[in-house]
Amino acid sequence: MPETNNAPRIFVLSGAGLSAESGVKTFRDNDGLWETHRVEDVATPEAFARDPQLVHRFYNARRNQLHTVQPNAAHHALARLEAGLDAAGGALVHVTQNVDDLCERAGETRTIHMHGELTRAFCTACDHRFAALQSLSPTTPCPACRTPGGPRPDIVWFGEMPYAMERIEAELMHADRFVSIGTSGAVYPAAGFVSAAKARGIPRLELNMEPSLGTSQFSDARHGPAGQLVPEWVEEILAQL
Ligand code: OAD
Repeated sequence: MPETNNAPRIFVLSGAGLSAESGVKTFRDNDGLWETHRVEDVATPEAFARDPQLVHRFYNARRNQLHTVQPNAAHHALARLEAGLDAAGGALVHVTQNVDDLCERAGETRTIHMHGELTRAFCTACDHRFAALQSLSPTTPCPACRTPGGPRPDIVWFGEMPYAMERIEAELMHADRFVSIGTSGAVYPAAGFVSAAKARGIPRLELNMEPSLGTSQFSDARHGPAGQLVPEWVEEILAQL
């Protein structure tokens, strides 16, 4: 008889609060990115068509900042959780709204970046997708079709469809618990994932500095810095495996 496998399949949704203690700015807190920049100027396809230089400058600054920041205790804890659940026959499904590479640098291997990645670009002329570790400009040629200015940041802008939605919806249907880390719950479809988890009746834990907009949808909440709350929670899970 095969042994019963009790290791859980845990769905984690993360947001900017996960990387805040690494020094990456959040969007909606005091001094957040959307206080100093208008979304319509830098994070829409229309903005890129109107002023590609401004949009590139915004994302070049974010991309360059990646060289100056390091994963924090919360990223490292999630990497330990992924490895621990894998070894026990469970799984971590980590869907992040973050476009930084701190989860990967902490050792996670399967993070799903639903809002894209700063370290990637794609060509608006031929759709070629590639690693973009350097700054982009309105004259940068596509490495495949050579169109000058073809490449744009591989970031999901407002009005565009987030990545991997089919896979994410399927994972939500199979998860044993749902955990949200460092997200305000202001942006859909991510903000609606907790409702899907609630409809299935699985436990739903919020780990955030303050109650999120969707806090009433959760069955449990702990409020404080991710760098403290996430390692504590991960150690509890690993101890139960
Ligand atoms: P927000 O800036 O909206 O929310 C960040 C959340 O993290 C807030 O609820 C903070 O209270 C919390 N927070 C801040 N510091 C924290 C810390 N040290 N520990 C724990 N929590 C902390 O960021 P997101 O919810 O990620 O989309 O925003 C979602 C999307 O909106 C982003 O992916 C981006 C943005 O517009 C696109 O650009 C497409």
